[in-house]
Amino acid sequence: MRLTVIGTGYVGAVHAACMAEIGHEVLGVDIDAERIGALAAGRPPFYEPGLPGLLKRMVDTGRLRFTTSLVEAAWFADTHFVCVGTPQQPGSGASDLRDFEAVRDGLAPYLHDSGYEEVLVVGKSTVPVGTAARLAGLLHAVAPAADVAWNPEFLREGCAIHDTLRPERIVVGVRSEHAEARLRAVYAPLLAAGTPFIVTDTATAELVKGASNSFLATKISFINAMAEICDATGADVLTLARAMGADSRIGPRFLAPGLGFGGSCLPKDIRAFAARAEELGLGESVAFLHEIDEINTRQRERTIALAQKALGGTFTDRNVAVLGAAFKPRSDDVRDSPALAVAHAIRRRGAQVRVHDPEAIDNARAAYPALQFALDVTKACEQADVVLHLTEWPQYREIDPVALAAVVRTPALVDARNTLDPADWCAAGWTLCAPGRPNLG
Ligand code: UDX
Repeated sequence: MRLTVIGTGYVGAVHAACMAEIGHEVLGVDIDAERIGALAAGRPPFYEPGLPGLLKRMVDTGRLRFTTSLVEAAWFADTHFVCVGTPQQPGSGASDLRDFEAVRDGLAPYLHDSGYEEVLVVGKSTVPVGTAARLAGLLHAVAPAADVAWNPEFLREGCAIHDTLRPERIVVGVRSEHAEARLRAVYAPLLAAGTPFIVTDTATAELVKGASNSFLATKISFINAMAEICDATGADVLTLARAMGADSRIGPRFLAPGLGFGGSCLPKDIRAFAARAEELGLGESVAFLHEIDEINTRQRERTIALAQKALGGTFTDRNVAVLGAAFKPRSDDVRDSPALAVAHAIRRRGAQVRVHDPEAIDNARAAYPALQFALDVTKACEQADVVLHLTEWPQYREIDPVALAAVVRTPALVDARNTLDPADWCAAGWTLCAPGRPNLG
């Protein structure tokens, strides 16, 4: 089949490459000519394992091309995936739909005389419930042959190709049998491999994304609230999480206590979800999401307090080493990164802060130019009075605590992600603290 993917950010670039991989002819479209040029050369403007190779292979097969022209898109195919970003509006937290509306208004006039009998515009962007129905009304007025469907995206940064080619489910919200049949054909190779295909109306499909991310955020904040209780009672949150997660009704995933969630999705999506519900007069139904958000933000303050305690009460003129800048491991994304928020706050309180990250240094430097950065862990930790472990990159578990103790000024560690082995670090002479585990050495 031929299809276009409009908006080649994170979701769009991965979707375009993966659709080509399963055999479709794909045209990627973006207004950013520089980005289009880089993608066509197999260079995504962000770090995602496996994507450069996949892009290059797909471009070489001729199944994947890129353009900046919406006219070309309208003529190229009768199925268009819209993957533009819907960022958070400052203040209200509601979704900013300007890019989405620009694509709608840019594409609609060309759909009418593109020559296709039935055109399908499939939204993948995360939008407030009701957007698809409004889009359908507007498109119908300009191009009666155009139908709208919704197909939310659940991919995680760092596993984006796996999540797209082997998703746990595909959800499509449709308004016609024809749209359902078209989407079944698009995803046929994945359906043949047994992927559950959930067909619903567009409103339900739009809600699945916000509801799922709200639930994931709730799990994380729940266990972080339990960590606060563990700190006050002498209990151990890691064992608590393991024991809770062993109940298959609860499950162990997204129950890792620590510095909390960040990134471009969870924080923004729960705020947009709550804002839309409030707009609909349903503030009570989502009041808990504000609490989830607050618990999450509080973990940053709690980490800062642990660092301050480890430093004997003051940040002034102290050297602080920070391990991790990305919002999570296997990503170079620093958007709403809890690690950098903590590093920045500590610097403002008078410490010298030196940050290490295996992939995100360039992005971190652009976002926080006043912080200092180091290209290796040893350099970041030289003469440190405390080491803060803020993003749980797997390579940090390989650090030799004996060797690191020799370069710091004081062997004190705050493991804000609860993933380092306390026995190893304590045996090497480190004092250790971590959220929800008040009895570490
Ligand atoms: C998330 C959703 O998982 C994905 O389905 C959606 O489409 C986009 O948002 P992503 O932002 O890539 O994906 O990150 P994810 O791996 O889900 O982690 C989100 C945040 O939660 C990270 O900051 C991570 O560090 C944090 N987290 C995750 C925890 O603090 N504890 C956990 O137990 C799990």
